[in-house]
Amino acid sequence: SPSDPDLVERARAAKEKLGDKVFVLGHHYQRDEVIQFADVTGDSFKLARDAAAKPEAEYIVFCGVHFMAESADILTTDDQKVVLPDLAAGCSMADMATAEQVAECWDVLTEAGVAEQVVPVSYMNSSADIKAFTGKHGGTICTSSNAKRALDWAFEQGEKVLFLPDQHLGRNTAVRDMGMSLDDCVLYNPHKPNGGLTVEELRNAKMILWRGHCSVHGRFSLDSVNDVRERIPGVNVLVHPECKHEVVAAADYVGSTEYIINTLDAAPAGSKWAIGTELNLVRRVANAHPDKEIVFLDKTVCFCSTMNRIDLPHLVWTLESLAEGNLVNQIQVDKETESFAKLALERMLALP
Ligand code: 13P
Ligand code: SF4
Repeated sequence: SPSDPDLVERARAAKEKLGDKVFVLGHHYQRDEVIQFADVTGDSFKLARDAAAKPEAEYIVFCGVHFMAESADILTTDDQKVVLPDLAAGCSMADMATAEQVAECWDVLTEAGVAEQVVPVSYMNSSADIKAFTGKHGGTICTSSNAKRALDWAFEQGEKVLFLPDQHLGRNTAVRDMGMSLDDCVLYNPHKPNGGLTVEELRNAKMILWRGHCSVHGRFSLDSVNDVRERIPGVNVLVHPECKHEVVAAADYVGSTEYIINTLDAAPAGSKWAIGTELNLVRRVANAHPDKEIVFLDKTVCFCSTMNRIDLPHLVWTLESLAEGNLVNQIQVDKETESFAKLALERMLALP
């Protein structure tokens, strides 16, 4: 538990023993009890970039979810070992696009005669296999902090984008940031023949959105926004772009977890905020700013259950194992997948 002084002391001692051999990364959705031991915290873009910032560290302990640890493995040197404190920390959205489904989708696009015009853009929240598919087909990775720049780049390369796997980030970026209309977007359902789309629909679409979503952000609704505006007059609504389109359209500010933190840091004392993202982060920023009124956008509690799997006992076990020379829970992407996935990740890192 967060207040267990014995565990806190054990984590501190193991980390001290490891010294420069270990570099601990913490995503903003991690628990406070874990975040206190992170050498760096960030959104998924910042953590992907920072993972490679310490080539002298033998162990990268990634306090986040599986796809983030995979990306860190791809972007670090062969000598560095990336460790995920609980192997069950996955992401339900990333699981919504499998390599087989995406290969089948590409066949559908090929048969419809549109594949040559399509550039894949895959959200960071995807498996290394999907990133490799993206790299192989000339596409890029994006995160919530650079999705517009990724789409700008993609539409310089081709006429259509296949956006994987988060339909909401794809739609929100296309409509809110790129000036497209909802009619420019079609939804590809991997569970239906031909994605549930006609050849005509595929030919007319600019954005082909994969039918994936985040179940945590999916819980915010237009009612949540309307209710909070009624309850707290003058409130600023700030949400993550994984929220549904109608929620994002009704919000005042939209951005990544790092953007949310920076916006609240810069907000004047006395200002009022309702935040639509995971609850560990919302509680932490609320505690950090007692001079501002910061509330959760919905009334129901909503943690990301897989992010929450990384807790202090798992971190202590990981650090103590590494300190004793036992490599545990290593995340390792195979060489072939890594080389194509790296292409796609490097295109993202090179975006203007
Ligand atoms: P960020 O890149 O904004 O940190 O988002 C990661 C994520 O998983 C949100 O659900
Ligand atoms: Fe995945 Fe959603 Fe959790 Fe982010 S909040 S890691 S998208 S399940």
